[in-house]
Amino acid sequence: MRLDVITLFPDYLAPLELSLIGKARREGLVDLVVHDLRDHTHDRHRTVDDTPLGGGAGMVMKPEPWAEAFAAVRDRGQEGLGADVEPLIVFPNPAGTPFVQATAQEWSHCEWIVFACGRYEGIDERVYEHLADAGYEIALASLGDYVLNGGEVAVLAMTEAVVRLVPGVVGNAESLVEESHSDGMLEYPLYTRPAAWHDPVGVVREAPGILLSGDHGRIAAWRREQSVLRTGRRRPDLLGPADGDGAPD
Ligand code: ADE
Repeated sequence: MRLDVITLFPDYLAPLELSLIGKARREGLVDLVVHDLRDHTHDRHRTVDDTPLGGGAGMVMKPEPWAEAFAAVRDRGQEGLGADVEPLIVFPNPAGTPFVQATAQEWSHCEWIVFACGRYEGIDERVYEHLADAGYEIALASLGDYVLNGGEVAVLAMTEAVVRLVPGVVGNAESLVEESHSDGMLEYPLYTRPAAWHDPVGVVREAPGILLSGDHGRIAAWRREQSVLRTGRRRPDLLGPADGDGAPD
């Protein structure tokens, strides 16, 4: 998988050298390149923003550097991947569709993703029109219903969620199947040794006996039940509308 990130703050993406993603990069499973949007400006001040047309607070990102950056990133990517390969262009944006585990799963099959990190009030709308007209597949994706200062933190989160699903990146692929959200529910509670733990205030906390039974069928059933209970308590929205509302199935 190839990933490009276009940003005004390349240093913000430094954590992508670390841990699992760093290892995936070193092993050649992921090729990740960070680009500075200001390299695509041509004035003395390397200007990327201007005041909003029509007035209003803050600044808007100018279209010219973005168009040039996309063309350069596309040319460079196609040198390695082939001229027939096109990227998915992702704009992290609080006004986008929610980025969820299903999104991560879908994107983990992409050969090439370009993340475009907006800052300030946002990017001139004509950039999206230009890309759509040029035939790019584009997605606006939101990390959640809150506003960050820019797309960089969202890219860190999205990249981690996507790259760990790329085959070979996580050593034990089974752990991806069992985890929260992989089946639309929250993960069941986890325990390890000691089976009876004396906590710091002297309470003996026993792990559920069933986990010591060796009966894998019953353990799986107990875990499923715990998943449903936990999801109902913490995230009832994930279980969908309750049954028994009289509506036909
Ligand atoms: N940029 C600013 N806020 C964001 C959010 N919530 N999700 C994705 N990108 C953003």
